[in-house]
Amino acid sequence: MTTDTRDDVVLDIQGLRTYFTTDDTVVRAVDGVDLSVRRGSTLCVVGESGCGKSAMARSVLQLVERPGRVVDGRVLLHPAEGGGEPVDLAALRPTGRRIRSVRGREVGMVFQEPMASLSLVHTVGNQIGESLRLHRDLSRGEARARSVDLLERVRVPGAERVVDSYPFQLSGGMCQRVMIAMALACGPRVLIADEPTTALDVTTQAQILDLFADLRRDTGMGLLFITHDMGVVAEIADEVAVMYLGTVVEQGPVDEVFHDPRHPYTRALLEAVPRIGAARSRRLPTIRGTIPDPGRQPTGCVFRTRCPEAVEGLCDTTVPPVTSPGPGRRVRCLLDEGPAPEDAPGGGDAVPTGKETTDAD
Ligand SMILES: Nc1ncnc2c1ncn2[C@@H]1O[C@H](COP(=O)(O)OP(=O)(O)O)[C@@H](O)[C@H]1O
Ligand SMILES: [Mg+2]
Repeated sequence: MTTDTRDDVVLDIQGLRTYFTTDDTVVRAVDGVDLSVRRGSTLCVVGESGCGKSAMARSVLQLVERPGRVVDGRVLLHPAEGGGEPVDLAALRPTGRRIRSVRGREVGMVFQEPMASLSLVHTVGNQIGESLRLHRDLSRGEARARSVDLLERVRVPGAERVVDSYPFQLSGGMCQRVMIAMALACGPRVLIADEPTTALDVTTQAQILDLFADLRRDTGMGLLFITHDMGVVAEIADEVAVMYLGTVVEQGPVDEVFHDPRHPYTRALLEAVPRIGAARSRRLPTIRGTIPDPGRQPTGCVFRTRCPEAVEGLCDTTVPPVTSPGPGRRVRCLLDEGPAPEDAPGGGDAVPTGKETTDAD
């Protein structure tokens, strides 16, 4: 049986709520999210567009734009091994020195559109060098040499030449590698990647996914990887969290969730993945309906307006509690039947607790 150790957690998001408040609406983009990222492990957050994935990711680093605001919850960043108490990033001032020193140095971030995040008027080397110099005292020469090293680490061919080029001279895939190099510049303990391969063609996407997997293995950093694509989750995740309308509806080890998905939304996302060898003419099933108006969340279960299994008088009136179908797994569905038979409590021999007393015979 797997034990759920907390020791290796590097980023612990607890009860996070991020709301966008305007005169007449409150969009609860993130509405009570709990997630943990472990050292040397990849947590994928998956869900359709508009589910709050980016708002969640940006909240971690206090980068939510107005009128958005983190209204509740904690984002605990645990120190490197043996180093004191965790810091609650959500309690830091968004413009303060402390959070700015966390960004880039302890927690790196890569976004979907590399072109939009890079400056067009500075060379690649100057931009990577800037991230290095922000947090470390390096001469220009040292920064350039380190930039070339970093480009080589993210497998940019001809790094010595690319370091002096401008982003517009590079392909989208190369720009994304530059962004990853910048995010790695200060050796972060956590890397957040928000749909980093969505804008890339399929071949480049596969190469960048491989790169993330290798970097995560080589550096031991925790990776929080956001995608709308279950195919990508299958490639890269150790654990998966399925998000719908600001809520995590299911999470757990990726093999178990794929093998035995418990939430109807997870099942719908999995059914929408094209299968290798499937007839080309067959239309992919899509999830029926669309995400409700984000300012008007359904009562009861957030997914019930699109759920093929929703039960009237139950799913529209009751907010589903979190239940656990197995070790390390959580699901929010009123119709879930609980633990798989082999995991059911009381189903076999009692698990020794180490506390029982030995009866004299
Ligand atoms: N600047 C903003 N102002 C108002 N609402 C926003 C803003 N940014 C995002 N939202 C809303 O927050 C919700 C979550 O958006 P987002 O986090 O971008 O979703 P995802 O990344 O999963 O596609 C959406 O309903 C979106 O309309
Ligand atoms: Mg997004």
